[in-house]
Amino acid sequence: MNQTFIGVSRPQTNLLLVVRQIRYEASGINSYELTDPEGGELAPFTAGAHIDIHLANGIVRQYSLCNSPMERHRYVIAVLRDEKGRGGSKALHDSLRVQDIVTVSAPRNNFKLAPAAKKVILLAGGIGMTPLKSMAHALEATGVPFELHYCARNAGCVAFREQLESSWEHGKLHFHFDHGDPARGLDIAGLLRTAGEDTHLFYCGPGGFMKACAEASSHWPAGTVHFEHFKAPEPPPAALDAIAPGSFMVKIASTGALLEVPAERSIADVLEEAGVHIETSCQAGLCATCKIRFLEGEVDHRDYILDDGERGQWLTACVSRATSGTLVLDL
Ligand code: FES
Repeated sequence: MNQTFIGVSRPQTNLLLVVRQIRYEASGINSYELTDPEGGELAPFTAGAHIDIHLANGIVRQYSLCNSPMERHRYVIAVLRDEKGRGGSKALHDSLRVQDIVTVSAPRNNFKLAPAAKKVILLAGGIGMTPLKSMAHALEATGVPFELHYCARNAGCVAFREQLESSWEHGKLHFHFDHGDPARGLDIAGLLRTAGEDTHLFYCGPGGFMKACAEASSHWPAGTVHFEHFKAPEPPPAALDAIAPGSFMVKIASTGALLEVPAERSIADVLEEAGVHIETSCQAGLCATCKIRFLEGEVDHRDYILDDGERGQWLTACVSRATSGTLVLDL
């Protein structure tokens, strides 16, 4: 079947990189340094960016780059082995070896620093530290003052400890250990009670941590709070009940073609089958790679990445559904 590449979704060129170094960073966490096999420069990235890594058996996973964006000779990711996860981190820990060649995407960024920020608070829960570490490097390089709060179970769970402790000139580092009891950890509500002037907040971590940060910052001015989920949160049972099952139609504005999206399939899948390629990555509403503009209809968004402003015009083709009979797509 011929494929059509239209709208914002275009195929990206993947890179073949060599695994130059694997390091134990903390309990269950390894870092992986990826470089060009011939020693060339890599495509630049900005703080908060991630890459897709293609593993055996067609598994594709996204990992934040955690090194300094000023570095052009390497990408560094850190991966927590998640025994209860979907298998990507285990496959990576178990199969990736130094000198292996891996296929990765070019860096993409849905979690960018705010150029207007005069001060930044970086709030990391566990492995959520990875994009924030890259941000700390960028803020240090540009002289923007920042606080970096790293919440972990204990000191043995802290990745990159030596690097992080190597005195930031513009940043203050705080570790918070809860020893398995959130009540003994950082008082997030207390930290975020007062929103500083021109201060921006960035946070990333596991589900409970994300919820606590969202609640604690709900009164901050619009546009000053930024976050990235690394896993789709579990919807509460009430939300599951509210999700209308069933199929709906999508219409391609440029051709008038009408396609049915059955209950068990995504818009991206249906478009792909019809020969319209929509680039996807996380397939879970986390990365916005698949976002496409819609012109008419009511969208049940179900993603964790678009903000309220974007939701009036865009949807994510991997998870969005319709609450109206038909969505007209700007394709
Ligand atoms: S592929 Fe990541 S949001 Fe759709």
